[in-house]
Amino acid sequence: MTEAVHTPRVFSGIQPTGNLTLGNYLGALKRFVEMQASGVETIYCMVDLHAITTWQDPKDLKRATRELAAGFIAAGLDPARSILFNQSQVPAHAELAWVFNCVARMGWLNRMTQFKDKAGKNRENASVGLFAYPALMAADILVYKATHVPVGDDQKQHIELTRDIAAKFNHDFGVEHFPLTEGVIEGAGMRVMSLRDGSKKMSKSDPSDMSRINLTDDADTISQKIRKARTDPDPLPDTLAGLDDRAEARNLVNIYAALAGMTPDQVVAENAGAQFGQFKPKLADLAVAVLSPINTEMARLMADPGEIDRLLGEGADRAAAIAEPVLEETLDIVGMVRSRRR
Ligand code: AMP
Ligand code: TRP
Repeated sequence: MTEAVHTPRVFSGIQPTGNLTLGNYLGALKRFVEMQASGVETIYCMVDLHAITTWQDPKDLKRATRELAAGFIAAGLDPARSILFNQSQVPAHAELAWVFNCVARMGWLNRMTQFKDKAGKNRENASVGLFAYPALMAADILVYKATHVPVGDDQKQHIELTRDIAAKFNHDFGVEHFPLTEGVIEGAGMRVMSLRDGSKKMSKSDPSDMSRINLTDDADTISQKIRKARTDPDPLPDTLAGLDDRAEARNLVNIYAALAGMTPDQVVAENAGAQFGQFKPKLADLAVAVLSPINTEMARLMADPGEIDRLLGEGADRAAAIAEPVLEETLDIVGMVRSRRR
């Protein structure tokens, strides 16, 4: 069988749970904006169906979805150039996810480290949705036949699973229907670590607010969190190799690089011999310069939730126009009778 050629299309999603962090910005959002500028078709989603795999207060979920939409737009995504919407407004995601629940194997999902981390010790009490989560993520991507997915490093395993599902589907039904999607996981920002512990990723669910920078933090809070970030007493080395075994120091260098659009090597070369007492204020100024305008714009957008809802509805209509024919074709391949008049 010849490999079908799929038109390049970018899809990615973020869960509307809690605050957006600097990790989300550097690992995901900033690159979403770069891909929008590259001229390919870009589709970005607030994945509210994924959010409810763990308990969400209904009022908080609505607010978080709107705030995430505001974050997308404030970071530079343009609703006219990218398709922006919340997942639950396009039912094709959930429908394709059911098919994928029947394609994916228990053994594959059992290997997912995110499930193990999120379920913790009490696996018996985790929702079925939390376990099936990666099949829904594969559906998000493949219902658009997306070829490229910008994500942070922690999502690598889910992208590989998406490829496994696509390959098994194509193989089982003898078709070249779904593309084998590539993760776009690159740059210094793909793994931003906690400011308190260089071995843990920066996360919106970390109990310590000092561990992360939120896109809603004001300039003083950002500066204070960076000044108090954990480091070691040594100055910055001459070469990047000098940061091996210095996870917290390496993290601050990576953050600087990702914010400044430099490589970590360049940052080290430029700051060799500096003490963290000198480097941290520089980093704080840079972070404030990049994040403050986003923060201000988010607050402005959040003042008009009706307008955000309108944009999301419009985005969902455009998304559904792509997703529905792919879902129909998929269900036909699977052997479902399709006879409703639409
Ligand atoms: P989530 O907040 O888990 O929905 O993640 C949304 C996106 O942000 C995904 O692409 C993640 O890989 C990315 N992301 C989340 N935390 C980090 C982090 N600490 N460093 C880099 N990327 C991250
Ligand atoms: N699982 C992703 C996360 O936790 C969010 C997500 C859901 C996603 N569906 C997606 C990311 C599709 C990329 C593509 O970060």
